[in-house]
Amino acid sequence: MNFKTIEWKKDRLILIDQRKLPTEETYVECTDYKQVADAIRDMVVRGAPAIGVTAAFGVAIAAQGIAGKNYNDFMRKIESACQTLLETRPTAVNLAWALERMKKVCLRSEGAALPEIIKKLEEEAILIYNEDIETNKKMGRYGADLVENGMTILTHCNAGALATAGYGTALGVFYAAQEQGKKFEVFAPETRPFLQGARLTAWELVKNKISVTLITDNMIGSFMRQKKFNLVVVGADRIAANGDVANKIGTYTSAFLAKGHGVPFYVAAPLSTIDKKTPTGNEIPIEERSPAEVANFHRQLVAPEGVKIRNPAFDVTPHELVSGIITEKGILREPYAKSIQNLA
Ligand code: MRU
Repeated sequence: MNFKTIEWKKDRLILIDQRKLPTEETYVECTDYKQVADAIRDMVVRGAPAIGVTAAFGVAIAAQGIAGKNYNDFMRKIESACQTLLETRPTAVNLAWALERMKKVCLRSEGAALPEIIKKLEEEAILIYNEDIETNKKMGRYGADLVENGMTILTHCNAGALATAGYGTALGVFYAAQEQGKKFEVFAPETRPFLQGARLTAWELVKNKISVTLITDNMIGSFMRQKKFNLVVVGADRIAANGDVANKIGTYTSAFLAKGHGVPFYVAAPLSTIDKKTPTGNEIPIEERSPAEVANFHRQLVAPEGVKIRNPAFDVTPHELVSGIITEKGILREPYAKSIQNLA
């Protein structure tokens, strides 16, 4: 990749500011865990795996800032930092998953000197970061088998290097296929209201020389009817135990259209996105974001003052519409309840 989404510098975290792309490539520096929480809430960094990795570094930063006296005092402050980070965004389970891993490091280290625990927390965050890239590459290799020369592939939102530690889940499939020398075309819907497709997916695919065509979200149905797409690959924010998938709002529309038009619909997601504790998609908490995002188009007001607005950031695609879930352990198939239960 020719940019870094997340960069750790021993005591501070550098994040590419995804609110400013593609017009400005600027970076935000976090030296305090509250700044990290703000960066996640305000979408400086977004995408399920990326916010998990970022939160892990947030805990490492919090630990470095604790002038703790004893283990219990230290743990109380870590718990409080974890809670602040957890409350930033509710849908992507990778956030809770990463924070649990960080807390476990503290619990395993009870009795050790605090500087030792602080060092272990930093090491764990770096491990989560490195594992994410490795995991994405493994998923990419499994997913690339689905990509054939000449295909046109629909994605949604941004599930790329910008949404992860640096490779991508859905877009990782495309990067892996590109590495294998395959030639194909990606269609990126703009993804209102935050425009992750237009601003982020188009930006990173152009930067990485993958042929991409930008469309508006309401063009998907028409292109489906014209048999434009051979395959759909999207990411996920949380996958329930029965295989239902929460992902960026609009994913369900594409999945339904894909089913109706006989186009295979795949979800690429690491195991850290699978939440065995959530039985079905109905129990996945869906974040509702500020009405201002819908009332404005890239900071330009496009709606009358006072109009009622809804802004759910994610939707749920029932597992019946999913042809397969590409993970680092291979491609899961129906019955998902069973294939997910069988995962280690
Ligand atoms: O609101 P966002 O931009 O955080 O939503 C991101 C998505 O919905 C992605 O598709 C998902 O997190 C998978 S990212 C690899």
